Order: sequence, then structure tokens, then C-alpha cells
Amino acid sequence: MRKSVTKLSCLLAAAFLLGGCLQVLFATEDDVTPRISFPYNANERLAKRFSVDGILNYTLLLLSQEDDMLYVGAREALFALSLSDISKTKLQKNLMWGTPPGKREECSFKGKNLETDCFNYIKILLRMNSTHLYVCGTYAFSPVCAYIVSDDLSFC
Ligand SMILES: *[C@@H]1O[C@H](CO)[C@@H](O)[C@H](O)[C@H]1NC(C)=O
Ligand SMILES: *[C@@H]1O[C@H](CO)[C@@H](O)[C@H](O)[C@H]1NC(C)=O
Repeated sequence: MRKSVTKLSCLLAAAFLLGGCLQVLFATEDDVTPRISFPYNANERLAKRFSVDGILNYTLLLLSQEDDMLYVGAREALFALSLSDISKTKLQKNLMWGTPPGKREECSFKGKNLETDCFNYIKILLRMNSTHLYVCGTYAFSPVCAYIVSDDLSFC
């Protein structure tokens, strides 16, 4: 008798758990409206913007809580932005990482498009340890990776 009671309570517990899961599932599916929303750049919530003339393809972001920075990988460029204000140029550091003309020619010779493909697009951005980042770029279709000192964004 005791055994079957235990079994029953187990089953009940399982049913409750399942019910809980389903409820969570349904809640997230139905309830997709944000609790708070603001139009872009509303006075209550001004947006900070970052972009640099002539730099395209800001495709990679790395949030680094160790140093309160946002690292941004773009086409031929890497930026370190202070989380306190990403728009403040004084707080920013950058590393221009271009592709040598010879590499670009090689890339074009392989049949790639010189104006779109044959650049160095930063594709991987990781924090290696407290002092270094690990960064990889397409380097005109011959990928290159490097360690970079996060303090001053210099190659090491
Ligand atoms: C880079 O950005 C340009 C302009 O927005 C876009 O046309 C192009 O497809 C992007 N290229 C890559 C590789 O993301
Ligand atoms: C972080 O990694 C780099 C690259 O391997 C190395 O040169 C450096 O000494 C390391 N720094 C620390 C604090 O471990």
C-alpha cells in the first residue's frame, strides 16, 4: 500500500511539473508584448550611437564585463568602446587592420569580388585572458588570427 501511495504522489508531482512547464511555454508564446517600450530616441531614453565615417559592417560585438568595454569588429577595423558611453570618442580606442594590396589582388585573382569580398572582415572576437583578445579576420579570403592587447588594441 505504502509503495503505491509513493508511486501516486510521484506521478502527481510529475504531472505538476509538466503542467508548470507547459504553463511557462504558453506564457512566453502568448505574452510577447514588452512591458515597457519607447520610440527610438525618446526623451526618456536617449540612445547612444556609434559609427565611424568610412567604416562598414559592424557585425561583431563582444561585451567584456572584466573591463566594462564593448569590443566591436567591423570591416578592416576593431574598436573598444567604453560601456559608460559608447558614443564618446575620447573613451574609444581602435585598431585599423587592413589588407595589403598584394593579398587583395590574390583574392580578386581567385575570382572573388574586389569591392565586396577582398577585405578583412573581423569574424571572431574572444577574450583570451585578462590582458588579451583573440581576433580573426577573413583577410581577403585568407583568414588570419592574432592576439591583441586589450588595453591599447595593439598586436602582440
Ligand atoms: C557590408 O555592408 C554593406 C553595406 O551595408 C553590405 O552591402 C554588405 O553586404 C556587407 N558585407 C558583408 C560581408 O557583411
Ligand atoms: C594572455 O594570453 C597571451 C597570449 O597567449 C599571453 O601572451 C599572455 O601572457 C597572457 N596573459 C595572462 C595574464 O595570462
